Amino acid sequence: MIAAGQRVIHYKRGQRIRIYPIFDVHLGNLGCAEESFRHHISRLRRDRNGYWMGGGDYTDGINYTDKRFDPRALPKWMRPEDLADLPRVLFDYFIAIMEPVADRCLGACWGNHEYSMLRYHSAWSRWSDLCKRVGAPNMEVSGFRDLIFLDEDRRKSKLRIVIAHGGGWAATAGGKVNRLRKMLDDFPGADLALMGHLHDQIDTRKTGIDADDDCKTIIQSTRMAVMGGTWLRTYTQGFASYAEIRQMSPVPLGNPVIEIEPETLAMQVGWPMREAVVA
Ligand SMILES: [Fe+2]
Repeated sequence: MIAAGQRVIHYKRGQRIRIYPIFDVHLGNLGCAEESFRHHISRLRRDRNGYWMGGGDYTDGINYTDKRFDPRALPKWMRPEDLADLPRVLFDYFIAIMEPVADRCLGACWGNHEYSMLRYHSAWSRWSDLCKRVGAPNMEVSGFRDLIFLDEDRRKSKLRIVIAHGGGWAATAGGKVNRLRKMLDDFPGADLALMGHLHDQIDTRKTGIDADDDCKTIIQSTRMAVMGGTWLRTYTQGFASYAEIRQMSPVPLGNPVIEIEPETLAMQVGWPMREAVVA
């Protein structure tokens, strides 16, 4: 786990700050809704108060030596020789999309799909190279990152984020919510928890009750956890994805956008939809 330090964000009172968690893109799989993902990133590029944080599985990264390899899952743009160095090809592909917003990256974790490339294809240096090129503090598997919001009068507020790609398995809505709420239980210091891996669009809140330091006033505080969504279609024309083979339920496509009011740290989650997305 990595405590990745603070990022100071200057803003004018009344402005909102938006965080774009980037999870489970799965570039390099035929089922990736790549055009829609690019559209999402172009929205972030135009949003001058928008920042992003990476939660892994940016790339599919299943090489021909992997028992999960399916040649029919390769996208049209991939050439046979690209399989000779898949981590380089896929990481470069992701970097090219994210480099224009490198100055607004808050950190990046790897997902299980990157991790298998790092382990089995000795791609550790490629991962650190990716982090440098997309401006990301390297948060490896999971970590904390503090955002310090500073207004024009230098009034300050702080939001603590915990992020992990996530693990485990859940097929039902209840199971997925429980995995998400577990993050709030495990990391009680975080105001906002982000996880992916289960490829769904879910957000949940947990409220705690306490008293102030003099024990004279009741304080209620609410923390939020958000599952990062995906850009990988469960069902695709012409080939059976690993999701289809496991008969997983189809999920909506897209990553969330979390809007924060820096003065109060009030948060709301949006799930932009672009239903030009077809299978
Ligand atoms: Fe994934």
